[in-house]
Amino acid sequence: MFYRIGGQAQNDRSLSAVLDAVAAVSEAEDRILARDAERFAQSRTARAAQAAAYFQSNANEWNKLRQLHLPASDIEARIVKLAGDRPVDTFVDLGTGTGRMLEVFADHYRSGVGYDLSHEMLAIARANLERAGINHAQARHGDLFSLAMDGASADVVCVHHVLHYLAEPGAAVDEAARLLKPGGCLIISDFAPHDLEFLRDEHAHRRLGFSDDEVRDWCAASGLQLEQIETLSPASGEKKKLTVKIWLCRAPADVRRLRARSAA
Ligand SMILES: C[S@@+](CC[C@H](N)C(=O)[O-])C[C@H]1O[C@@H](n2cnc3c(N)ncnc32)[C@H](O)[C@@H]1O
Repeated sequence: MFYRIGGQAQNDRSLSAVLDAVAAVSEAEDRILARDAERFAQSRTARAAQAAAYFQSNANEWNKLRQLHLPASDIEARIVKLAGDRPVDTFVDLGTGTGRMLEVFADHYRSGVGYDLSHEMLAIARANLERAGINHAQARHGDLFSLAMDGASADVVCVHHVLHYLAEPGAAVDEAARLLKPGGCLIISDFAPHDLEFLRDEHAHRRLGFSDDEVRDWCAASGLQLEQIETLSPASGEKKKLTVKIWLCRAPADVRRLRARSAA
């Protein structure tokens, strides 16, 4: 069983006395606590091994998919560039999977949180974050359609290669818009419309890519502005078949418009 301090409570100074007391107990020379600490380390190692095994058993599938578009590193570099160099307070990654975007953006936020429904993926994400020494991000269980997170609390929300798995991608954009602070941005990366039906049959894709107009309509319905579009097409003659799109969407800077939207 794990406990954590809620996001807002982390800044609550009155908690520090409680935390000091907990730290004092943990540091006490107590045989039972020492044994607990040992067992904690063992169980963390076992979970990381379990996550690695799951990842390994799915790695071939993911590699096959990766071969269909430009290298992930190219796409990631473009996403970070589009989001801008300015560091932000709160970064949220919806459908975080292995926590890759939390890693990619790690130098650009003060506090990061990635949500996913799959416990296996979350285990991998936590192991990856720990291995990368990223202590300012967490991977949490949550349904991206309805998150236990305050509205207007995120500077940047990222949805990377997730929307095509969803029955209602527009509803995911709406939840992302709810999370954004005034002036905050939503980065969506996904595929342009394509006809690779086997992705539906063999890889559980529900949607074969999205058009700019479709994304623009979701934005409009959620009170966001589609600000920039990047298109990463494979070079002509390449065997790769998928064009990757990055859409940068912005929440209105005017707080009243955001409030009117959440009240509607
Ligand atoms: C292809 S992975 C992408 C992972 C990550 N964004 C990346 O780019 O590496 C899609 C992830 O979305 C998660 N997912 C699907 N539906 C979800 C939902 N309703 N709420 C949260 N996560 C979801 C899946 O569990 C999976 O880990």
